[in-house]
Amino acid sequence: MAGNKKTGGLAGVSAGETAICTVGKEGAGLTYRGYDIYDLADNAGFEEVAYLLMHDKLPNRSELDAFITRLKTLRGLPDQVKQVLEMIPADSHPMDVLRSGVSILGNIEPEGDFKNQGHVADRLLACLPSMLLYWHCFHTDGKRIDVETDDDSVSGHFLDMLHDKAPSELHRKTLDTTLILYAEHEFNASTFAARVITGTLSDFHSAVVGAIGALRGPLHGGANEAAMELIKKYSSPEEATDGVLAMLERKEKIMGFGHRVYTTSDPRNAVNKKMSKALSDEAGDTQLYVVSEAVEKVMWDEKKLFANADFFAASVYHFMGIPTYLFTPIFVCSRITGWAAHIMEQRADNRLIRPAADYIGPGLQAWVPIDERG
Ligand SMILES: CC(C)(COP(=O)(O)OP(=O)(O)OC[C@H]1O[C@@H](n2cnc3c(N)ncnc32)[C@H](O)[C@@H]1OP(=O)(O)O)[C@@H](O)C(=O)NCCC(=O)NCCS
Repeated sequence: MAGNKKTGGLAGVSAGETAICTVGKEGAGLTYRGYDIYDLADNAGFEEVAYLLMHDKLPNRSELDAFITRLKTLRGLPDQVKQVLEMIPADSHPMDVLRSGVSILGNIEPEGDFKNQGHVADRLLACLPSMLLYWHCFHTDGKRIDVETDDDSVSGHFLDMLHDKAPSELHRKTLDTTLILYAEHEFNASTFAARVITGTLSDFHSAVVGAIGALRGPLHGGANEAAMELIKKYSSPEEATDGVLAMLERKEKIMGFGHRVYTTSDPRNAVNKKMSKALSDEAGDTQLYVVSEAVEKVMWDEKKLFANADFFAASVYHFMGIPTYLFTPIFVCSRITGWAAHIMEQRADNRLIRPAADYIGPGLQAWVPIDERG
């Protein structure tokens, strides 16, 4: 069975070539198309990074302006999509909402010829936040919100729809930076799922639907929500330390820690941690940040496990007033760029992805008629 101890979940196995991203070179680094994640987080906007991933170059000023304008024109949702979103139960998980939203959009605006892939990528990047917040606002406030806001950025669009007002620049920029950090990560589980689906020559929407399904689990994107559930349980660093020690004693996993590829640290954590501290100070928080630090310390002291991108992302999103169940969907709104880049790269030099398995079942069995079976 794939993922058992013998095959080790394909750990360390190269499953193909990519020119998009490096992860964990020397245990810690992350680059997108050759650019260091710290340079991108410090200097770029999310749309610039999206363009870099999907077009294989940084945009010049006029290319970026045109891209931003284009994304703004693609935010609207067809009525049929809105109807489906309204029918999805209020207690559904928003990852399931996005999975269904992309699927219905694929029926209404099918990709058709692969030459349309660039348009589909832009369309999904522009309208995933619209789907998410349309559903959220409809089911929480009973409001049919206008998803075509005038904000220039994906982060501004998201926060504007969520809070029904333009965000502060600190919050917009912070969300923008988390989108940059989440945008791409080589052959992670959801991207690999997208590439496997793409490898059959299936359509763009199917690949993204599969990727969303893979991202949903707590061992992958779902970890940011699980991290939030953990830190909000504790009211002091001491309580957090004791609680995590008890969980480790019970051999429970602490979500938001560890990584398959990084061995010494996750470079995205330093950026998230700094933003979490800034927002904690802004909010006058005396609990969540120090609790998070205590969990980070005990995990390192006890297990030499470091916080990954999801751990401090949890408090960052919480401080911006984002409900926990929207954390993993935000990851989708960002990672769509990496998935799109990989779908296009896979198609450019496609071969069906179909690995072999080591059979560990019984030898050849004699057929037993149904009435003679015990
Ligand atoms: C990311 C992750 C799935 C990588 O998994 P992996 O490479 O298959 O490593 P394993 O799950 O086999 O872990 C190896 C060992 O470290 C331990 N470990 C790894 N992550 C751990 C965590 N977050 N908490 C406690 N123990 C952990 C495992 O229990 C295992 O111990 P063992 O050898 O005594 O059985 C894993 O670290 C994890 O589950 N982390 C929590 C979920 C998470 O944050 N996911 C987001 C990743 S960006």
